[in-house]
Amino acid sequence: MKKIIGLSTGRKNGNCEILLKEAAKGAAELGVETEIIRAMDLRVLPCKGCFACHFTQKCVLDDDVDWILKKTCVEDTGLIVASPCYHLRANAYLMAIAERLNHIFMKEGGDCSIFKKTRVGGIISVGNSDKDWTTLNLLTINLFVQHTRFLVDQMEANFAMEKGAVLRLDKSMQRARLLGRNVASAMMKPIDEVKFVGEDSPIYCPSCHCNVLFVPANLPHVTCPVCWVHGEIVVNNGQWQIVWNKDDVINNRFSPYGEKLHLDFAEKRFEEDRQFLKTDKAKKLLQEYSAYGKIIHP
Ligand SMILES: Cc1cc2nc3c(=O)[nH]c(=O)nc-3n(C[C@H](O)[C@H](O)[C@H](O)COP(=O)(O)O)c2cc1C
Repeated sequence: MKKIIGLSTGRKNGNCEILLKEAAKGAAELGVETEIIRAMDLRVLPCKGCFACHFTQKCVLDDDVDWILKKTCVEDTGLIVASPCYHLRANAYLMAIAERLNHIFMKEGGDCSIFKKTRVGGIISVGNSDKDWTTLNLLTINLFVQHTRFLVDQMEANFAMEKGAVLRLDKSMQRARLLGRNVASAMMKPIDEVKFVGEDSPIYCPSCHCNVLFVPANLPHVTCPVCWVHGEIVVNNGQWQIVWNKDDVINNRFSPYGEKLHLDFAEKRFEEDRQFLKTDKAKKLLQEYSAYGKIIHP
C-alpha cells in the first residue's frame, strides 16, 4: 500500500499540523498511512538564484530542502500540503521550498516522469480571516502541488489564529478528515478514474480549481494565473460564464507538455544570454552597472 506524505509549513502543533493530522486520520480509516514533514523543524533556505542547478542538477545550498523535495515531489506517494496564509498567500517556508524545485526538474524531469500526474494530492489552507484575507493561499499552494500531483481535493480553514484554535472549528476538522479520506480513496483507483471532489465556486479553473483570474490584455479574455488555461467570458441565457479552452486544460503549464516547453524555453534563453554576455557592449555595461549606485547595509 502506498503512503501519503503530509507537508506542514505551519507552526509545530499549530493549525496546519492539526488539520494535516486529522486528514491523516481520515486516510488511516481507509488503511493508508501518512508520514508528516514539519518544515519549521527543518533548515529551509531561499533560492539564491545562482542557476548552478541548471548545469549540475544539484543545489549548492546545504539544508534540508533537497530531502523535503525528494519526499514530496519524487517518491511515489500521495501528497497533502498544509500551509498557513501569511500576507494573503502561502508562507515563506512553502514558497522557499517551491522555488528550490529547479534542480529536481533538471534531474528527474528529463523524461517528464515526475510531471505525469499519476500521483494524487490534496491541499489545506489555513488563515485567521475569511476569504477577503486569504485570496492567494490556495493559489500559491497549488503552484507547488500542481507540478507533481493530480489535485483531488482542497479546503480552506478560516478564523484560526492562535496555535490549536482550529480545534474549535468542528466543520474544518471534519472537512480535513474528509480530505484525507478523499486523497486515500483516490490513491486506490486507476488514475484515469480519479476526479476532483472538492467544492467548486461558481467560477473556477477546471485544472487547479482556484477562482482567481488574470486578464492578459482585454476582457472578455481571461487566464488562470496558476495553470495558464485561457478562457473567454460569455453570457449564456443571461448568465455570465467562462468558456475554458479545452486544449489548454490538457496541456496546461503543469502538464508534461507544459513543463517540457518551459524547460526547453529556459535552455534557449540561457544560450541567448550567454551569447549576449560575451559581447564587448555587455561587458562594458555590466562594469558600469556594478560600479554604479549606493548599496546600503544595516
Ligand atoms: C506574518 C503572518 C501573516 C499572516 N497573514 C495572514 C493573512 O494575510 N490572512 C490570514 O487569514 N491570516 C494570516 N495570518 C494568520 C495565520 O494564517 C494563522 O495564524 C494560522 O492559523 C497559522 O497557522 P499555523 O497555526 O499552522 O502556524 C498571518 C500570520 C502571520 C504570522
